[in-house]
Order: sequence, then structure tokens, then C-alpha cells
Amino acid sequence: MNIAYERYKELLCRLADVQYSIAILNWDLETYMPPKGAESRAQQISTLSGIAHNLSTSEELGDLLFKLESDTSLDEIQQKNIYHSLKSYRLNKKYSQAFVEELSRAISEAFQAWQKAKETNNFSLYAPKLEKLVRLKREECTIIGFTGHPYDALLDQYEPGALTADLSILFADVRSQLVAFVKQIAAQPQNEDGFMFLHYDKQKQWDFGLELLTQMGYDFEAGRQDISSHPFTTNFGPKDVRVTTRIAEDNLNEMIWSCIHEGGHALYEQGLPYSEYGLPSGEYISLGIHESQSRLWENNVGRNLPYWKHNLARLKEFFPEPLKNVQPEAFFKAINKVRPSLIRTNADELTYHFHILIRFEIEKALIEGSIEVKDLPALWNSKYKEYLGLDVPSDSQGVLQDIHWSHGSFGYFPTYSLGSFYAAQFYNKAVQEIPTLELEIEKGNMKPLLNWLREHIHRHGKRYTAEELCQHICGEKLNFKYFMNYAQKKYGELYKLEKIVKKA
Ligand code: CO
Repeated sequence: MNIAYERYKELLCRLADVQYSIAILNWDLETYMPPKGAESRAQQISTLSGIAHNLSTSEELGDLLFKLESDTSLDEIQQKNIYHSLKSYRLNKKYSQAFVEELSRAISEAFQAWQKAKETNNFSLYAPKLEKLVRLKREECTIIGFTGHPYDALLDQYEPGALTADLSILFADVRSQLVAFVKQIAAQPQNEDGFMFLHYDKQKQWDFGLELLTQMGYDFEAGRQDISSHPFTTNFGPKDVRVTTRIAEDNLNEMIWSCIHEGGHALYEQGLPYSEYGLPSGEYISLGIHESQSRLWENNVGRNLPYWKHNLARLKEFFPEPLKNVQPEAFFKAINKVRPSLIRTNADELTYHFHILIRFEIEKALIEGSIEVKDLPALWNSKYKEYLGLDVPSDSQGVLQDIHWSHGSFGYFPTYSLGSFYAAQFYNKAVQEIPTLELEIEKGNMKPLLNWLREHIHRHGKRYTAEELCQHICGEKLNFKYFMNYAQKKYGELYKLEKIVKKA
């Protein structure tokens, strides 16, 4: 037995215990906490965060990691664990106490200002706070260090190894290929989706959502679903993975897509190896890979015809009246309506990526200093005109719509698009390897797909980087052509774009 490695595991378990406790407090805050609990809750979370920070930067942990770094008796997975832990240890050590406190103050001020600014449609309330935050974020890039673009330093926190240069090439493809494709769709007659917005009883929606989760393979003995205003997934280890959903009685889309999306995230967490609790080998790879799991279920599976050939019949048992004359093909059309819109979170699965493209271009320019915060509203509006053909009527529906920047989350948005692109590539491979996959989905049998995801992705934890994982599964790295092929095939049929399908 390697005593140093065993001690390292103990220290990491202890850190995980504290971090998952913070996660429980946050879960409660978003679901059940009464409003007056907010103040003491903030204090409890801050105390535990301080303890987590001390554990993650302790001298004992550092000494062990430096010792284990050159221990050749460790196996491949153990070596990877030490590599990842050392990387986060070094990173945590780079931040001074003063900087952490200043950043945390700037974030809470920016967040409050953003809420007011959005409510009152007044960007100028937010601008000075955001300016300060952007200045600190630029400083953070220098603290972390980078070799190419400063934005690399921020990207790496969400998508380890992702480079601004590579993403610029990827998003240039999005711009050149997807913009033209969406224009062709826009020229076609629009599909009917009015029946999605009739009255759908809340409790019945809830019951149907639980059935969808069960069908996917979500383990209710190792999780639960609750209601929150913004759906999310959180976990306290692989045996307690919770999802939330929201339900609108006049819009069936809300519940269906949040259930399947969060269910996809949750299956990834439930599939991580429990024996590796607290270790990198028991954690997800990156936000892009995490998002690939939610989007694969949501879009490649859920927004596809085989899924509804099975599930529509059951949905109609819950809602016979509003869905009386709706056939699976009509339902399939209704849930795949492509139409440029102002709000990212309501976007369809194609125009969604323009929203991310715009944020990527803006973030990159902000962090490198080629634009300033005061330029944001005008720049935002001109990009929405250029890529989506839309006039932005107010900053609340424009540059102020997302919470991310007020949280200091720069470098996060690109992982949403990466998720969809990885999902298309993985799903393509799964169908290739399991030719009966969609026939099984049509029977309501999701097991072959879940087993495939478990085998190729979930069980590995952080053993591979995102790029290595993709290489390992698909024999090549991330390639945008799989998403475009998927889009052209599906929407070519849905909108009868025969010429495009033949060319592709
Ligand atoms: Co997600």
C-alpha cells in the first residue's frame, strides 16, 4: 500500500465532503429555503467555502502532491489523479487572499447592479460594476498565466485545454455554415406548434416528466426531482444526484425539455464511479462534455421522431383533449421549429449557436481589451442584427439578459455550443456502433444508449481530457461537420430543403 497516496485520498475525500455540503446548502437555497433564511445561508456557505479553500491549499496536501508527482509506482489512473490535483493546487495557490476578496465583492456588487439594471432596462446602472469586474478578470488571466490568448486562462477553468485559437476556427465555421442554412429555413413555410401552448395541468405534467426520467434510466433511489425557477442538476456524490424542473401550464415545452436535459446531466453524474469519490477519476471531464450528455438526450434523442413514436401515445393518455388530433410526425415538427429569437434560453437548437457565437466574440474582445464595457449595448445589437436579423428592442432583452457576466463567468458560454457539437458526434458514433439504437428508442427502450454512454463516457471520470475522449470514442477530435450533417438531414426533411440535403 502506498501510504502517501492513501493519505492524499483521505484529504481529497475530506475536501469533497465540504464541497458537497456546500452543494446541499445551495440546492436547498434554490428549492425550499424560506426567504428569511437567505442571510444566514450566505454566511454558512461562506464559512464552508473558507474551510474548503484551506483544505485545498494546505501545506500537507501540497507536500504529498509534489512527492507523488514523481512516484513511478502509481498506476495510470493514480498518476492522472495526481496530475489533476496538482494542477488545481497550483492554481489555487496563485490567488492572493486580497484578490479573492476583491473579486468576490466585485461579483456581489455586479450581480445586484445587474438585477436592477435588467428590471429597469438601464444598462448604465450595471456598467461601472461590470467594468470593475472585467478589469479584475483581465488581471486574473495574468495571475493564472497563458501562452496564447489571455482568454485561454478563463476558458481552461470550464473546458480544460480549450484554446481561443481553436474556438475561433470552430465559431467561424458556425458563422459561415449555420447562418446560411438558417436563412434557407427561414424562407420556407413555418411549422404549426399551437397545440403546445394549450392548457396542460401541472400535476399531470409532473407525473409524465417523472416517467420520462425513469425511462431514461435515472435512478430515483439515487436522486430526486424538485421544482425551481431555473432548472439545474446538482450532486453530492454519484449516489445522490438531484434534478429540478419548471412547469408552465400554458407551454408544454418548459417541462419536457428541462426534464430530459437535466436528466441527461444527472445520468452522467450517476454513472461516475462511486469508488473514486472525491478524486478526479470520479469527476466529470469538463462542462462541454457534461453539456454533451444533456444535449444528446434533449436534442438527438428527445427532439427526434423515434422518441415520440413511442412517448406521444403515453403523453396523450395524460392530455387526450389538447393532443387529440396530433400525430407523432406533427409533434416532431412542432418541437423543432427554427426561428431566430432574442433570448438565448428560448432559442431553438440551431439559432442557439448564434447566441453563443455572439457572446464568444464579445468576451474574447473584452478580455483582450479591444473593446470596453461602454461599447457593449451597441455591439450586441449590431451582432444580433447581423447574425439573427433581429432588432433588439431593449437592453433587458439584449445585453442584460444573462446572469453569467455578473457572476464573473467569462469563458463559460462556449461550453454550451461545444456540448451540442460533441453530442452530435457521439450520437453519430453510437448509432453506427448500435444499428438498432433508434428502433429500440422507438420501443421506449433507452438501455442500449445508456449502456453505451456509461461504457464510453461516464465510467471514465477524468481519465481522459475532452479531446482525448472524443479521439478515443470517434477516432478523431471534435469536428463540426457532425453537427452540420445532423442539422442538414433533420431540418432538411422538416422544412423540405431538398437541394441542401442532396448537396450534403
Ligand atoms: Co445543461
